[in-house]
Amino acid sequence: MEIKLEPEISLKEYQMLRGTTSWAKLTDRQVKKLLKHSAFKVRAKADGKTVGMARIIFDYGYTAYVSDVIVLADFQGHGIGKMMMEDLLARLKAASEPGGFLNVVLQAAPGKSGFYEKLGFTKRTEETGWGMCLRYNSN
Ligand SMILES: CC(C)(COP(=O)(O)OP(=O)(O)OC[C@H]1O[C@@H](n2cnc3c(N)ncnc32)[C@H](O)[C@@H]1OP(=O)(O)O)[C@@H](O)C(=O)NCCC(=O)NCCS
Repeated sequence: MEIKLEPEISLKEYQMLRGTTSWAKLTDRQVKKLLKHSAFKVRAKADGKTVGMARIIFDYGYTAYVSDVIVLADFQGHGIGKMMMEDLLARLKAASEPGGFLNVVLQAAPGKSGFYEKLGFTKRTEETGWGMCLRYNSN
């Protein structure tokens, strides 16, 4: 199987990949905007077929947020998720300010924190300060 990474994700690919998860559905307008405003995107193709994606939102200062990391079920366990994350993180590091530091954050889906720990992410605790989130439903 030949895996190729490319720095783009189309609206159709995003909706197809997201549709394989149990995550909330997004409108096409939302997806167009989130793709336009993501600093780094990666799409994985296996023998020409789109099988995965991931993206990073970055303020070009010090905060980056990893989102929408998805590999199709039939292609999981082949190192594609890791390849995509390493690609994104390398591009993020290359775009960071010299002499500064980066804070890369994410929300791991249930059962997926081990995948991110292998990439160097650590879980926050009450002692280090929980990550928190607030969800709004738009009108
Ligand atoms: C999470 C996900 C992206 C992992 O992709 P993947 O291509 O199957 O992962 P990889 O094959 O690249 O795995 C890389 C390493 O992480 C490990 N790993 C993968 N999933 C793991 C998990 N759920 N828990 C612990 N370790 C995991 C692998 O064993 C591998 O370890 P190794 O380097 O020692 O061999 C994939 O399972 C997925 O798309 N899940 C559905 C969507 C989802 O929940 N995404 C996460 C959103 S936060």
